[in-house]
Amino acid sequence: MTMRWLGIMLLSMTTALAAQGSVTKTAFGTAPDGTAVDLYTLKSEGIEASIMTYGARVVSIKTPDRDGKVANVVLGYSALDGYVADKSTYFGAIVGRYGNRIAFGKFSIDGHQYQIPTNNNANSLHGGTVGFDRLVWQGKAITDGVEMTLVSKDGDQGFPGTLTVHVRYTVHHGALRIDYVESTDKPTVVNLTNHSYFNLAGDGTTTILNDEVMLPADQYTPVDTGLIPTGVLAPVEGTPFDFRKATAIGARIHDDNEQLKIAGGYDHNWVLRGKNGEVKTAGRVYDANSGRVLTVTTTEPGVQFYTGNFLDGTKYGAAQEGHAKNTGLCLETQHFPDSPNHPAFPTTELKPGETRHSTTTFTFSTHAK
Ligand code: GLA
Repeated sequence: MTMRWLGIMLLSMTTALAAQGSVTKTAFGTAPDGTAVDLYTLKSEGIEASIMTYGARVVSIKTPDRDGKVANVVLGYSALDGYVADKSTYFGAIVGRYGNRIAFGKFSIDGHQYQIPTNNNANSLHGGTVGFDRLVWQGKAITDGVEMTLVSKDGDQGFPGTLTVHVRYTVHHGALRIDYVESTDKPTVVNLTNHSYFNLAGDGTTTILNDEVMLPADQYTPVDTGLIPTGVLAPVEGTPFDFRKATAIGARIHDDNEQLKIAGGYDHNWVLRGKNGEVKTAGRVYDANSGRVLTVTTTEPGVQFYTGNFLDGTKYGAAQEGHAKNTGLCLETQHFPDSPNHPAFPTTELKPGETRHSTTTFTFSTHAK
């Protein structure tokens, strides 16, 4: 064999090794009910993501800036006790059984009325008082990632049907992909999403107001004072909700606009272009300082763009860590809020014998100056 061939072989072997990535598991404390919590760290080229079994939460995502400096781009806490004590932000969690709000916690399926806990003024938020974000999931290492499994019993938080959920997190070349698979033994409603707060500056303290956001949506769902959709699909045209061209978040967030006032900023569902079930872009965020770009694609019909309006710097856990207003933004790919009470919205009903699959990918890249 010539030296040249040997060189080529060695090069392709190292490329293959680098592309393979790795998955490691470490202990991350004990949940209040005594269950041990594990942290899975997934590595691939240009990304390292840590996911814990408590709430199947994303604890950190490390990506390089335009100069190659690696930092964590999501908000969270350094230890489990912070996540347990904080009952309002849902940092990094898989929220369910119904992500976002259900008006007065009431809905009906096939003529049966159901009542779930009202934990957000008069309404229900993120699945009730003990949602999926507060449960310990079962983790299993898989190729390039981790599979988190949860079985929510018939009647859990008032929802009908035993719901089995598998959420797979995998990493690939600068991307974190989330695959959701759900099945039930009785008709029920399901709307799962991931509640990561992105801070592309990578310091957890710089506000996201200078980030430029693009949302490929012609309509959004305006809300009442309880943040429940009125049912109208309103055009974004001519409003501060028009992000079809990349615009700095802070450019219009303080505009004299009733919807922005109700929510204290952006906290709304955008109606994505393209078909429900087909992969499409849900949004893009660019932080000009670090050069980091986040692109979100999904099969879901909507995205809740939330600018961390309720973050108030409250400190949690032994380390006393907190995050201030507007220091993180969420792009929660989802079905529309309160869909069970809006027959015209894409349905969130799941029937026995059906398996629902959805997928969302967060891809990180950088942009030159
Ligand atoms: C979602 C909601 C917000 C807020 C956060 C959690 O994004 O739409 O109103 O409740 O979750 O704090």
